[in-house]
Amino acid sequence: MSTTPKFTEKEINPLGSLDEWEDAVLERYPDPETIATAKSTEAYRNYDAPERDTVREFYRLNHTYQTYDFVQEKRADYLRFDKKEMPIWEAFNFLNQLVDDSDPDTDLDQFQHLLQTAEAIRTDGHPDWMVLVGLMHDMGKTLCLFGEPQWAVVGDTFPVGCAYSDKIVYPEFFKNNPDFSNPEYQTPTGIYKKGCGLRNVHMSWGHDEYVYQMMKDSLPESGLYMLRYHSFYSWHREGDYEQLLDDHDREMLKWVKLFNPYDLYSKNPVPPDWKQLRPYYEDLVAKYLPQTLKF
Ligand SMILES: [Fe+2]
Ligand SMILES: [Fe+2]
Repeated sequence: MSTTPKFTEKEINPLGSLDEWEDAVLERYPDPETIATAKSTEAYRNYDAPERDTVREFYRLNHTYQTYDFVQEKRADYLRFDKKEMPIWEAFNFLNQLVDDSDPDTDLDQFQHLLQTAEAIRTDGHPDWMVLVGLMHDMGKTLCLFGEPQWAVVGDTFPVGCAYSDKIVYPEFFKNNPDFSNPEYQTPTGIYKKGCGLRNVHMSWGHDEYVYQMMKDSLPESGLYMLRYHSFYSWHREGDYEQLLDDHDREMLKWVKLFNPYDLYSKNPVPPDWKQLRPYYEDLVAKYLPQTLKF
């Protein structure tokens, strides 16, 4: 039985596109290098007030409906991976069906963002598995193509089943979440044991956990942390949730932090030359991933 309430079209897609969430994150965490060189981040983002309103509405929905039970329902459904199976390169075409209707001229497609992230990592000489993390990190956004609301695909992720960090953007909206009035869920550790480690903590549902589960047999642990927690800003940027961490999480944090700037700051209006890059990425994918990807 589904516990998901029925949503209107406006509640499913409060944002003009998924990119509006990423633009809002970039506004919160601007590129220090771009600031240092006095180059405005204006090139990346749009300060339009209407867009900010849609982002606010997006967070209202996210904070209201991401309950512990909602997360369990989505895990039970999606982690069966019985929805679709396709060759890896077809999966990128599938993901690219997520087009931005609101601004088709200025935004690059999902694949271009993945490729730019991967290329920025490769240029800096990081190991090839990290380049692959760059290439795959947003594959979980295919959740939208299975009808999931935007607020159950993107947005800052956070632990469910324990108190919310006030470092999460728009914390006031958590008052609307049914878990907020469950005292068992509202202590710092909630249903978890102190120091239990993030692997024992359920995060709000979204593209991070989904892609982590997709890739978990194919990448080293440090790469898996990058996938699984790349939107967990209240941890990797704000340093919160210490009470849930174990030594392994503290050790892995540096990898999550290493990855984040490539995701946020590699966006460039000029698409990479795919024809030239293709042989490298075909070899990379063949080295680590199975021939087909399950959704
Ligand atoms: Fe992402
Ligand atoms: Fe991304």
